[in-house]
Amino acid sequence: MKNFLVFSGSSNIPLSTSVAKLLGVPLGKVDLTRFADGEIRPWIQEDVRDKTVFVIQSFSGDMDAHIMELCLMGDAIRRSAPKTMIAVIPYMGYARQDKQHRLGEPVSARVIAKFLEVSKFREMITIDLHNDAIVGFFQIPVTHLAAMTILAGEVKKLHLSDMVVVSPDVGGVKRARNLAYALDVPMVVMEKKRFLDRHDQSESFQIIGDVKGKSVVIIDDVISSGGTIINGAVSLKRAGATSVTVLASHAVCAGNAFENLSKAPIDHMIITNTIDWTKKKLPAFVSVASVASEIAASIQTIVQ
Ligand code: R5P
Repeated sequence: MKNFLVFSGSSNIPLSTSVAKLLGVPLGKVDLTRFADGEIRPWIQEDVRDKTVFVIQSFSGDMDAHIMELCLMGDAIRRSAPKTMIAVIPYMGYARQDKQHRLGEPVSARVIAKFLEVSKFREMITIDLHNDAIVGFFQIPVTHLAAMTILAGEVKKLHLSDMVVVSPDVGGVKRARNLAYALDVPMVVMEKKRFLDRHDQSESFQIIGDVKGKSVVIIDDVISSGGTIINGAVSLKRAGATSVTVLASHAVCAGNAFENLSKAPIDHMIITNTIDWTKKKLPAFVSVASVASEIAASIQTIVQ
């Protein structure tokens, strides 16, 4: 009999199932239904008393509903006296709103931190936050995992020659530098221009470094509209890159992003399963690497 339980919200049941399998436990039973008016109504059907309880939920797809579902599951669990309760959020949506980009806007990542604390989660495990400083928004301990080792392993399997790692913007330099170290190759930085009044649109316009004749590997935390990667790939090809490989921790891929990315000069795209794409047929150039082992290992260190 294990002294911990793993529950899943509805956003990414395949990933939660893989994590539970690696931990050798079934997913905790929870009835996730809604009232007629759409209100979310989780019903925990396990005895959680004195147990360490994990709830896995990515903030993707119907993001706001998934946030609410996690908070309500937290409230339901804490009312049954668990030993402690830990939110596992493979993809934390709203993390990109980590500062007031202009007066009158919220700091949404901070609001998410408050929601989790109010729901009585005592810790959080997450992967590749948009910015390391977001950890400081939380009063509770945060285990901040990285998909980088998994993604680097997948790139190695491609046996690319004359590789350089590219950060698609200045904000991603640390992530790209870590990957470049791991692969022992040089790094190049792109300067990305974003329009303040059109926050989903970007235009890559300057490459700092040499990509001519190189296999470039762009790494980003999130692909949302796909604009950053598409503009980046086009600019890199124009500058003489021989092939473009894209790595991303969180393939949000909103709207027609996959269709638009398919038309861009991208040879390989490796994403992770922090967001569930198992129900969609992905384009042939996209492969999915699992982060289940990273999450399971992190849970294991807490419950051992
Ligand atoms: C922004 O700074 C992030 O790191 C990503 O580059 C961005 O979120 C990607 O968004 P999109 O796919 O809409 O260009």
